[in-house]
Amino acid sequence: MSAYADLLDNLKSSQKNWLVTGAAGFIGSHLVETLLMAGQKVSGLDNLSTGYLKNLDMVKARVGDAAWRQFTFVKGDIRNLATCRELCSGMSYVLHEAALGSVPRSLEDPILSNENNIDGFLNMLVSARDSGIRSFVYAASSSTYGDDPTLPKQENHIGKPLSPYAVTKYVNELYAGVFASAYGFRSIGLRYFNIFGQRQDPEGAYAAVIPQWFAGILQGRQIYINGDGETSRDFCFIDNCVQANLLAACASSDASWNTVYNVACNQRTDLNTLFAIIRDEVARRRPEAAKAKPAYRDFRAGDVRHSLADISKARLLIGYAPEYDVRQGLRKAGDWYAANLHI
Ligand SMILES: NC(=O)c1ccc[n+]([C@@H]2O[C@H](COP(=O)([O-])OP(=O)(O)OC[C@H]3O[C@@H](n4cnc5c(N)ncnc54)[C@H](O)[C@@H]3O)[C@@H](O)[C@H]2O)c1
Repeated sequence: MSAYADLLDNLKSSQKNWLVTGAAGFIGSHLVETLLMAGQKVSGLDNLSTGYLKNLDMVKARVGDAAWRQFTFVKGDIRNLATCRELCSGMSYVLHEAALGSVPRSLEDPILSNENNIDGFLNMLVSARDSGIRSFVYAASSSTYGDDPTLPKQENHIGKPLSPYAVTKYVNELYAGVFASAYGFRSIGLRYFNIFGQRQDPEGAYAAVIPQWFAGILQGRQIYINGDGETSRDFCFIDNCVQANLLAACASSDASWNTVYNVACNQRTDLNTLFAIIRDEVARRRPEAAKAKPAYRDFRAGDVRHSLADISKARLLIGYAPEYDVRQGLRKAGDWYAANLHI
């Protein structure tokens, strides 16, 4: 049995209190879903700035009424310290996802990203520390590797940040480190590498590439590739990300704590290949999509050229073993977008 299967089994026999921030967002709603399915008691905090109550409605439909009664949702903001204190009180575990994502958004409005991602993060850290939380796991980011071209990315080797967003995520790591040394506070940062899957938002100027392309091809719109299409990423399916969060939160050895882990698949996919896979996935359900071709335009400011994660640290120290590769994940995501997007 894998470490993760063991963990899910153990969770089922002991109910704990979990707080998920960013609960109405893409990753947060999947964390809520898995925790409720594992019989846990969950509070969700979200200000609904980029998340949606409809994501939580989908969770409710999937987990059923009995599990749903173990969930409490609070509409609130991590920029408000009193809210953070109130929500952290009585919790055993915190999975902190709330933040404003997107490199371009942070370039447009660095002050707003700073307020949400740094001030909000610090409010959560102080509140979690003062509530005696057992473990605090937070969403870090591969953007922290910045301008360092070395591949694969290893946790201890980073470059200079290329965007305000990357600065905010790196500052989170710095604060977590200081809270460990100054207050003995335990946390783990998970550097996500392009997480994708069901419920990731395809709408708006700051949508991630995978939901944008699924929606665009399903709706017969022109798809644009920024640059020559050889830019590559280590795309990672949402179920792998959920696994990493739960393993991190429940890690028992001290060596696993107060550090950061890459969360990815150690598999590089360039944008031309990604386009072809998504087009073929859509064409399985809408044959006319087989003719879709991308158009190319300028590279986007602040983007790194290639990204590939070394995931051996997470394998070794928290037992992370991704269960879905990119193609398997895109099949599941494709089923969902085809069923849920109104064309
Ligand atoms: N999706 C990825 O590929 C990826 C990669 C690296 C890091 N991350 C990080 O993972 C986390 C979750 O990202 P996601 O993809 O689910 O994005 P998302 O936008 O779907 O989820 C973020 C959620 O946080 C909420 N939120 C934002 N600011 C808030 C605030 N001030 N108070 C309360 N709630 C607030 C939003 O309403 C939203 O529901 C974020 O911290 C993001 O930076 C994501």
